[in-house]
Amino acid sequence: MDLELSGKKALITGGSRGIGKAIALELAKEGVDIAIAARDLDALDDAARDIAPAMGSSHVSAQAFGPGRRARRYDLSAVGRRLIAVRADTTDDDDVQALINIAADELGGIDILVNNAAAPGGLVGGGLAHANTDDLLADINTKVVGYLRCAKAAAPHMQRAGWGRIIIIGGLAARNSGTYSGLRNLSLVHMTKTMSSELGQFGITVNTVHPGTTITERSTPMYERQAQRQGVTREEVEAQVASGIAVGRIIDASEVAYVVAFIASPKAGSITGEAIAAGGGVGVAVHQ
Ligand SMILES: NC(=O)c1ccc[n+]([C@@H]2O[C@H](COP(=O)([O-])OP(=O)(O)OC[C@H]3O[C@@H](n4cnc5c(N)ncnc54)[C@H](OP(=O)(O)O)[C@@H]3O)[C@@H](O)[C@H]2O)c1
Repeated sequence: MDLELSGKKALITGGSRGIGKAIALELAKEGVDIAIAARDLDALDDAARDIAPAMGSSHVSAQAFGPGRRARRYDLSAVGRRLIAVRADTTDDDDVQALINIAADELGGIDILVNNAAAPGGLVGGGLAHANTDDLLADINTKVVGYLRCAKAAAPHMQRAGWGRIIIIGGLAARNSGTYSGLRNLSLVHMTKTMSSELGQFGITVNTVHPGTTITERSTPMYERQAQRQGVTREEVEAQVASGIAVGRIIDASEVAYVVAFIASPKAGSITGEAIAAGGGVGVAVHQ
């Protein structure tokens, strides 16, 4: 199936590593021009140099630009594509507005916004007695309000174009008790439905994709540390995690990216306001 994504323009927050980078890579392969954003510009630069080959160019020169030289433009003119990286903190209104302005100017619009920038698992891991309210507020500021900031700034560009896709990367902690940080993911489902009702008339769909436990660059060292603590092998830890997943294995970030690429495509115009799990079937609860 041709996803008809070629020529679209996407901004992926948290695109310097993990799930965000996998999404940027997949959209780049589908012919989408790409802006990636995060707080660390050097990490973004590394990611951009990994993404460029998927856009047809392996040796790219970069040029710094923007206020405070916060952005880098990669020269893909030989293949007629655009790729930029922008330093931005999504907890900051001014940073987000600057990010959206730069991305829209450089790419010639924003068709697809992937709201992904957040700490996986959140900052509040323990029980009630250890739940730090400042950490919880920081989690909500990044993942809920940060996503809303980006959508608010990007939506006018989509409204003017009469087409758009806003994709919200949630997390399956929304469907399980266990961590207080999980409440941010459930809040995103409400935001998704509310935004989709408002923006549908402009040809804009809004959907949440919930990853479950996902393999990213940080997984191997994380499972190594866990194995050392438990006095078992890393493979045993991974098997333990996989045993709670219907497909019997941990889902890779690239598999979350495939789902996002479809939802981002014109072919997915009938899906909006939904929360779609891409976790391989974690848990046994039934969700309508
Ligand atoms: N990995 C999983 O198993 C899993 C499971 C369920 C849900 N998720 C969700 O998937 C998303 C990505 O997770 P991941 O595992 O890929 O995380 P990751 O590897 O830690 O990457 C997070 C990305 O977000 C950026 N970021 C974080 N805070 C930011 C901020 N305030 N402003 C701008 N950028 C920021 C990071 O770069 P900087 O630090 O340089 O800013 C990085 O690019 C998150 O929303 C997470 O909650 C992940």
